[in-house]
Amino acid sequence: MKRSLLSKTQTTGTSANSHPGSPTDGENYWDFVDSQTSMGRYLTANEKKFIVESLNGYPNPIELALDAGAGTGRHTRIVATYATQVVAMEIEDDLVAALARVAPNVQAVRVTPETTTLPVDSNSTDCILCIEAVFLPEQEWFREECGRVLRPGGMLIVTLQNRLSWKGLWAKLRPGRYRYATGDVYYVHSLGEFSDMFRRVGLELRDALGYNWLPFNRASNSLLLRPLAILEALLQLRRLPSLSPWIIMRFVFKEES
Ligand SMILES: C[S@@+](CC[C@H](N)C(=O)[O-])C[C@H]1O[C@@H](n2cnc3c(N)ncnc32)[C@H](O)[C@@H]1O
Repeated sequence: MKRSLLSKTQTTGTSANSHPGSPTDGENYWDFVDSQTSMGRYLTANEKKFIVESLNGYPNPIELALDAGAGTGRHTRIVATYATQVVAMEIEDDLVAALARVAPNVQAVRVTPETTTLPVDSNSTDCILCIEAVFLPEQEWFREECGRVLRPGGMLIVTLQNRLSWKGLWAKLRPGRYRYATGDVYYVHSLGEFSDMFRRVGLELRDALGYNWLPFNRASNSLLLRPLAILEALLQLRRLPSLSPWIIMRFVFKEES
Protein backbone atom coordinates (compact mmCIF):
# COMPACT_ATOMS: atom_id res chain seq x y z
CA MET A 1 0.00 0.00 0.00
CA LYS A 2 2.77 2.39 0.84
CA ARG A 3 5.10 3.29 -1.97
CA SER A 4 8.07 2.42 0.22
CA LEU A 5 7.12 -1.24 -0.08
CA LEU A 6 7.60 -1.19 -3.81
CA SER A 7 10.79 -1.65 -5.71
CA LYS A 8 12.33 1.41 -7.27
CA THR A 9 11.32 0.45 -10.78
CA GLN A 10 7.76 -0.24 -9.75
CA THR A 11 7.50 2.97 -7.79
CA THR A 12 8.72 5.05 -10.67
CA GLY A 13 6.52 3.04 -13.05
CA THR A 14 3.55 5.10 -11.86
CA SER A 15 4.95 8.35 -13.08
CA ALA A 16 3.44 11.62 -11.99
CA ASN A 17 3.14 12.53 -15.67
CA SER A 18 0.60 9.81 -16.29
CA HIS A 19 -2.13 11.46 -14.24
CA PRO A 20 -3.07 15.00 -13.43
CA GLY A 21 -2.19 16.15 -9.95
CA SER A 22 -0.50 14.24 -7.16
CA PRO A 23 -1.43 13.07 -3.69
CA THR A 24 -1.79 15.96 -1.31
CA ASP A 25 0.35 16.00 1.83
CA GLY A 26 -0.73 13.19 4.07
CA GLU A 27 -2.90 11.57 1.40
CA ASN A 28 -2.05 7.94 0.83
CA TYR A 29 -0.69 7.30 -2.67
CA TRP A 30 -2.96 4.31 -3.28
CA ASP A 31 -6.05 6.13 -2.06
CA PHE A 32 -5.13 8.91 -4.45
CA VAL A 33 -4.80 6.70 -7.52
CA ASP A 34 -7.86 4.68 -6.58
CA SER A 35 -10.08 7.72 -6.43
CA GLN A 36 -8.42 10.10 -8.90
CA THR A 37 -7.30 7.95 -11.83
CA SER A 38 -9.40 6.06 -14.34
CA MET A 39 -7.42 2.85 -13.90
CA GLY A 40 -7.59 3.06 -10.10
CA ARG A 41 -11.34 3.54 -10.26
CA TYR A 42 -11.71 0.65 -12.70
CA LEU A 43 -9.77 -1.74 -10.43
CA THR A 44 -11.60 -0.68 -7.28
CA ALA A 45 -15.01 -0.92 -8.98
CA ASN A 46 -14.37 -4.53 -10.01
CA GLU A 47 -13.20 -5.52 -6.53
CA LYS A 48 -15.97 -3.65 -4.76
CA LYS A 49 -18.70 -5.21 -6.93
CA PHE A 50 -17.42 -8.72 -6.28
CA ILE A 51 -17.05 -8.12 -2.53
CA VAL A 52 -20.55 -6.65 -2.21
CA GLU A 53 -22.09 -9.53 -4.18
CA SER A 54 -20.26 -12.05 -1.99
CA LEU A 55 -21.34 -10.34 1.22
CA ASN A 56 -24.94 -10.11 0.00
CA GLY A 57 -24.89 -13.82 -0.85
CA TYR A 58 -23.55 -14.95 2.52
CA PRO A 59 -26.30 -17.05 4.06
CA ASN A 60 -25.68 -16.17 7.73
CA PRO A 61 -25.25 -12.98 9.73
CA ILE A 62 -21.62 -11.86 9.49
CA GLU A 63 -20.54 -11.63 13.10
CA LEU A 64 -16.80 -11.36 12.59
CA ALA A 65 -14.78 -10.39 9.52
CA LEU A 66 -11.03 -10.05 9.11
CA ASP A 67 -9.32 -7.77 6.58
CA ALA A 68 -5.77 -9.07 6.14
CA GLY A 69 -3.39 -6.45 4.73
CA ALA A 70 -6.13 -3.84 5.01
CA GLY A 71 -4.18 -0.75 3.89
CA THR A 72 -6.14 2.40 4.61
CA GLY A 73 -9.36 0.42 4.74
CA ARG A 74 -11.02 1.08 1.38
CA HIS A 75 -12.50 -2.44 1.51
CA THR A 76 -12.65 -2.67 5.31
CA ARG A 77 -15.20 0.15 5.09
CA ILE A 78 -17.48 -2.00 2.92
CA VAL A 79 -17.33 -5.12 5.08
CA ALA A 80 -17.87 -2.99 8.21
CA THR A 81 -21.36 -2.14 6.94
CA TYR A 82 -22.23 -5.87 6.87
CA ALA A 83 -20.37 -7.29 9.85
CA THR A 84 -20.93 -6.89 13.56
CA GLN A 85 -17.19 -6.64 14.11
CA VAL A 86 -14.20 -6.31 11.78
CA VAL A 87 -10.56 -6.92 12.64
CA ALA A 88 -8.25 -5.08 10.24
CA MET A 89 -4.66 -6.24 10.28
CA GLU A 90 -1.71 -4.17 9.05
CA ILE A 91 2.03 -3.84 9.51
CA GLU A 92 2.37 -0.07 9.03
CA ASP A 93 1.77 2.19 12.04
CA ASP A 94 0.17 5.03 10.06
CA LEU A 95 -2.17 2.61 8.30
CA VAL A 96 -3.16 1.03 11.62
CA ALA A 97 -4.04 4.54 12.84
CA ALA A 98 -6.10 5.17 9.68
CA LEU A 99 -7.88 1.81 10.05
CA ALA A 100 -8.85 2.59 13.63
CA ARG A 101 -10.84 5.55 12.25
CA VAL A 102 -12.71 3.61 9.53
CA ALA A 103 -15.78 2.73 11.62
CA PRO A 104 -16.63 2.13 15.28
CA ASN A 105 -16.90 -1.63 14.70
CA VAL A 106 -13.40 -1.87 13.18
CA GLN A 107 -10.57 -2.98 15.45
CA ALA A 108 -7.17 -2.22 13.90
CA VAL A 109 -4.44 -4.69 14.81
CA ARG A 110 -0.78 -4.07 14.16
CA VAL A 111 1.21 -7.15 13.21
CA THR A 112 4.78 -7.52 11.97
CA PRO A 113 6.03 -9.07 8.73
CA GLU A 114 7.19 -12.00 10.90
CA THR A 115 3.73 -12.65 12.36
CA THR A 116 2.46 -16.08 11.37
CA THR A 117 -0.95 -16.12 13.06
CA LEU A 118 -4.16 -14.30 12.23
CA PRO A 119 -5.35 -12.13 15.16
CA VAL A 120 -8.70 -13.87 15.69
CA ASP A 121 -9.86 -17.01 17.49
CA SER A 122 -10.21 -20.44 15.94
CA ASN A 123 -13.55 -21.17 14.28
CA SER A 124 -14.68 -17.57 14.81
CA THR A 125 -14.68 -15.79 11.46
CA ASP A 126 -17.36 -15.53 8.78
CA CYS A 127 -15.36 -13.65 6.19
CA ILE A 128 -11.69 -13.00 5.45
CA LEU A 129 -10.78 -10.32 2.93
CA CYS A 130 -7.31 -10.35 1.45
CA ILE A 131 -7.31 -7.89 -1.42
CA GLU A 132 -4.12 -7.09 -3.31
CA ALA A 133 -2.01 -8.25 -0.39
CA VAL A 134 -0.46 -10.74 -2.81
CA PHE A 135 2.32 -12.00 -0.54
CA LEU A 136 -0.04 -13.21 2.22
CA PRO A 137 -1.94 -15.98 0.38
CA GLU A 138 1.37 -17.18 -1.03
CA GLN A 139 2.40 -18.11 2.54
CA GLU A 140 1.59 -21.58 3.81
CA TRP A 141 1.01 -20.26 7.34
CA PHE A 142 -1.61 -17.83 6.02
CA ARG A 143 -3.56 -20.57 4.24
CA GLU A 144 -3.43 -22.84 7.30
CA GLU A 145 -4.59 -19.95 9.48
CA CYS A 146 -7.56 -19.36 7.15
CA GLY A 147 -8.54 -22.98 7.80
CA ARG A 148 -8.13 -22.46 11.55
CA VAL A 149 -10.12 -19.25 11.98
CA LEU A 150 -12.97 -19.63 9.47
CA ARG A 151 -16.25 -21.05 10.63
CA PRO A 152 -17.70 -23.89 8.54
CA GLY A 153 -19.31 -22.16 5.56
CA GLY A 154 -17.18 -19.03 6.14
CA MET A 155 -15.66 -17.37 3.10
CA LEU A 156 -12.33 -16.01 1.94
CA ILE A 157 -12.37 -13.26 -0.69
CA VAL A 158 -8.90 -12.97 -2.15
CA THR A 159 -7.11 -11.64 -5.22
CA LEU A 160 -4.48 -13.34 -7.33
CA GLN A 161 -2.12 -11.99 -9.93
CA ASN A 162 -2.24 -14.82 -12.41
CA ARG A 163 0.97 -16.39 -13.73
CA LEU A 164 -0.97 -17.78 -16.73
CA SER A 165 -1.95 -14.42 -18.22
CA TRP A 166 -0.42 -11.90 -20.55
CA LYS A 167 0.64 -9.77 -17.57
CA GLY A 168 2.11 -12.88 -15.93
CA LEU A 169 4.24 -13.45 -19.01
CA TRP A 170 5.22 -9.78 -19.04
CA ALA A 171 6.22 -10.02 -15.36
CA LYS A 172 8.39 -13.03 -16.17
CA LEU A 173 10.15 -11.07 -18.89
CA ARG A 174 10.73 -8.10 -16.55
CA PRO A 175 11.25 -9.74 -13.12
CA GLY A 176 12.76 -6.65 -11.42
CA ARG A 177 9.67 -4.55 -12.05
CA TYR A 178 7.33 -7.01 -10.39
CA ARG A 179 9.18 -7.51 -7.15
CA TYR A 180 8.63 -5.84 -3.78
CA ALA A 181 11.60 -4.39 -1.95
CA THR A 182 10.93 -7.13 0.62
CA GLY A 183 11.59 -9.77 -2.05
CA ASP A 184 7.97 -10.85 -2.52
CA VAL A 185 7.03 -11.30 -6.15
CA TYR A 186 3.89 -11.01 -8.22
CA TYR A 187 2.42 -13.47 -10.71
CA VAL A 188 3.71 -16.59 -8.96
CA HIS A 189 0.75 -18.95 -9.34
CA SER A 190 -2.00 -19.82 -11.79
CA LEU A 191 -5.64 -20.06 -10.73
CA GLY A 192 -5.43 -23.88 -10.69
CA GLU A 193 -2.31 -23.90 -8.52
CA PHE A 194 -3.77 -21.29 -6.18
CA SER A 195 -7.08 -23.10 -5.69
CA ASP A 196 -5.25 -26.41 -5.11
CA MET A 197 -3.21 -24.79 -2.33
CA PHE A 198 -6.37 -23.59 -0.59
CA ARG A 199 -8.19 -26.88 -1.15
CA ARG A 200 -5.51 -28.55 0.98
CA VAL A 201 -6.69 -26.50 3.99
CA GLY A 202 -10.38 -27.14 3.36
CA LEU A 203 -11.31 -24.15 1.20
CA GLU A 204 -13.20 -24.74 -2.04
CA LEU A 205 -13.26 -22.22 -4.89
CA ARG A 206 -16.83 -21.08 -5.57
CA ASP A 207 -16.59 -17.91 -7.73
CA ALA A 208 -13.88 -16.21 -9.70
CA LEU A 209 -13.96 -12.99 -11.70
CA GLY A 210 -11.18 -11.94 -14.07
CA TYR A 211 -10.13 -8.31 -14.46
CA ASN A 212 -7.25 -6.01 -15.31
CA TRP A 213 -6.81 -7.18 -18.90
CA LEU A 214 -6.15 -3.54 -19.79
CA PRO A 215 -2.61 -2.51 -20.78
CA PHE A 216 -2.28 0.38 -18.34
CA ASN A 217 -0.66 0.93 -14.97
CA ARG A 218 -2.66 1.82 -11.90
CA ALA A 219 -2.07 5.56 -12.21
CA SER A 220 -3.23 5.78 -15.82
CA ASN A 221 -5.83 8.25 -17.00
CA SER A 222 -5.64 7.10 -20.61
CA LEU A 223 -8.60 8.06 -22.79
CA LEU A 224 -8.46 4.53 -24.19
CA LEU A 225 -9.26 3.04 -20.81
CA ARG A 226 -13.00 3.40 -20.93
CA PRO A 227 -13.50 1.99 -24.45
CA LEU A 228 -11.17 -0.91 -23.65
CA ALA A 229 -13.00 -1.61 -20.38
CA ILE A 230 -16.26 -1.72 -22.37
CA LEU A 231 -14.62 -4.09 -24.87
CA GLU A 232 -13.39 -6.26 -21.99
CA ALA A 233 -16.98 -6.48 -20.75
CA LEU A 234 -18.45 -7.15 -24.23
CA LEU A 235 -15.95 -9.94 -24.87
CA GLN A 236 -16.85 -11.36 -21.44
CA LEU A 237 -13.17 -11.61 -20.55
CA ARG A 238 -14.20 -11.45 -16.90
CA ARG A 239 -15.63 -14.92 -17.37
CA LEU A 240 -12.21 -16.23 -18.35
CA PRO A 241 -10.59 -16.04 -14.94
CA SER A 242 -8.04 -18.77 -15.62
CA LEU A 243 -6.41 -16.51 -18.25
CA SER A 244 -7.15 -13.14 -16.63
CA PRO A 245 -4.24 -11.04 -15.38
CA TRP A 246 -5.96 -10.43 -12.06
CA ILE A 247 -8.60 -12.60 -10.43
CA ILE A 248 -10.82 -11.91 -7.46
CA MET A 249 -12.35 -15.03 -6.02
CA ARG A 250 -14.44 -16.47 -3.25
CA PHE A 251 -13.52 -19.63 -1.40
CA VAL A 252 -15.83 -21.32 1.08
CA PHE A 253 -14.53 -23.25 4.08
CA LYS A 254 -15.83 -26.78 4.31
CA GLU A 255 -19.40 -27.00 5.48
CA GLU A 256 -20.19 -29.17 8.46
CA SER A 257 -20.99 -32.75 7.33
C1 LIG B 1 -1.41 -3.27 -1.88
S1 LIG B 1 -1.93 -2.96 -0.22
C2 LIG B 1 -3.64 -3.46 -0.29
C3 LIG B 1 -4.41 -2.88 0.85
C4 LIG B 1 -5.91 -3.18 0.86
N1 LIG B 1 -6.18 -4.60 0.96
C5 LIG B 1 -6.59 -2.59 -0.34
O1 LIG B 1 -6.97 -3.34 -1.24
O2 LIG B 1 -6.72 -1.36 -0.38
C6 LIG B 1 -1.21 -4.32 0.72
C7 LIG B 1 -1.14 -4.02 2.21
O3 LIG B 1 -0.69 -5.16 2.94
C8 LIG B 1 0.07 -4.70 4.05
N2 LIG B 1 0.92 -5.81 4.51
C9 LIG B 1 2.11 -6.21 4.03
N3 LIG B 1 2.56 -7.29 4.68
C10 LIG B 1 1.64 -7.59 5.61
C11 LIG B 1 1.54 -8.59 6.62
N4 LIG B 1 2.48 -9.52 6.76
N5 LIG B 1 0.46 -8.58 7.41
C12 LIG B 1 -0.51 -7.64 7.27
N6 LIG B 1 -0.46 -6.66 6.33
C13 LIG B 1 0.59 -6.63 5.52
C14 LIG B 1 0.85 -3.53 3.50
O4 LIG B 1 1.31 -2.65 4.52
C15 LIG B 1 -0.17 -2.90 2.58
O5 LIG B 1 -0.89 -1.88 3.20
